[in-house]
Amino acid sequence: MKSGKKILLGITGSIAAYRALDIARLLVQDGHDVQIVATSRALKFFPRINGEVFTGHPVLSDLFESPGGVRHIGLADESDLLLVAPASADFIGRMAMGLADDLLTTLCLAIRSSVILAPAMEEMMYLHPAVQAHLKTLTDRGVREIPPDRGALASGKEGLGRLASPERIRDEVRELLRISQEWSGVRVLISAGPTRESIDPVRYIGNRSSGRMGYALVEAALSRGAKVTLVSGPVDIPTPPGADVFQVETAGEMESALEKQFPGHDLCIMAAAVADYRMEKPLNGKRKKDGKSWTLTLSENPDILAGLSRSKKEGQFLVGFAAETRGLDTNDLARKARRKGVDLLLANDVSEPGIGFGSESNDLTLVLPDGQSLHLGRDSKRRLADRILAEIRKRWTGFPSLPT
Ligand code: PMT
Repeated sequence: MKSGKKILLGITGSIAAYRALDIARLLVQDGHDVQIVATSRALKFFPRINGEVFTGHPVLSDLFESPGGVRHIGLADESDLLLVAPASADFIGRMAMGLADDLLTTLCLAIRSSVILAPAMEEMMYLHPAVQAHLKTLTDRGVREIPPDRGALASGKEGLGRLASPERIRDEVRELLRISQEWSGVRVLISAGPTRESIDPVRYIGNRSSGRMGYALVEAALSRGAKVTLVSGPVDIPTPPGADVFQVETAGEMESALEKQFPGHDLCIMAAAVADYRMEKPLNGKRKKDGKSWTLTLSENPDILAGLSRSKKEGQFLVGFAAETRGLDTNDLARKARRKGVDLLLANDVSEPGIGFGSESNDLTLVLPDGQSLHLGRDSKRRLADRILAEIRKRWTGFPSLPT
């Protein structure tokens, strides 16, 4: 039976390349349409004709070979998943650096669906700090690694570096496709970044949010096939392609955008750091320095999250963040979750340098309104975003089951 899923199988220059054909066979058995994209070095390890017989498609390798001219964008758009197995040390390095000098590396930049890497190489190469650093860069960006097995290597030595078994790789593909099938079409609304409240035409009240946590959630939701709307305060990071984006500046603008969007969404995650106060009367002209002290009168901004929870319909799921500077007390946080009316709260201690505001990492604890909690740990924001969506899925009883 056809699954209707298109899988790109990248094969790179490793002695394990011939085993990729067993992976192709298992994926075809699962009903997937498999397209092999091999690097020129990979083609030294298996005859093209074998790949074509297993998949029913010509093995692609060159970016510009006929027919079709530049084909990476079309292939990337049409595919449900990119699996690179085996992934050589050289390929992992090139992918981590964003080099794009052949069809496979170019696809890696163009693809928006999930990417899995199954490395295969000698143990000392796999454990080399350069390879580990490149793998960390990639997994921090949301790429999944299927770590190699321990066993007989090409050198004749025993060690860590043998390509994972085709069955293990097939199972991982099944799991990722199951997740993306489940989330496909689910409408997710995410707020991210800071808000700015004008003091005068040149000054504002802001905060240190970079938007990274919220943008990581956008990427994670998109890679699962969700339909994502992002309401973002002013940030310096690129917008993930594929989301509908509303740029806002003040808490008032963020509130209007979210109130308008919320009814058309199934899940809302408030990762934005909304300014709690604004100038009571922003000045029309720039205040000149006059040697005197200056007192600002501030008024409280509306609590956007609490407002959304009041308009929440059955089946919708609402998630808030909590930025704390005095440690995390689960009872206090559960009270905060109830006060804000959320289904789930993600608390981060933002007093520690290197996590929370502005950094690449976070340390999150999930708290439910009934006081249950789960420490998700310290990790890259992108990896945490995947964990968050998995935890939301477990607890969301009204998860929309959409027709497939
Ligand atoms: O953007 P990064 O640099 O990646 O940093 C990520 C982060 C630290 C900003 C993020 O992880 C985070 O904690 N975001 C929420 C910060 C915050 O405003 O916390 P809070 O405890 O003040 O607010 C609790 C919740 O109420 C939040 O979901 C917030 O979006 C919401 N809120 C707050 C105030 C307000 N007026 N309206 C709101 O809706």
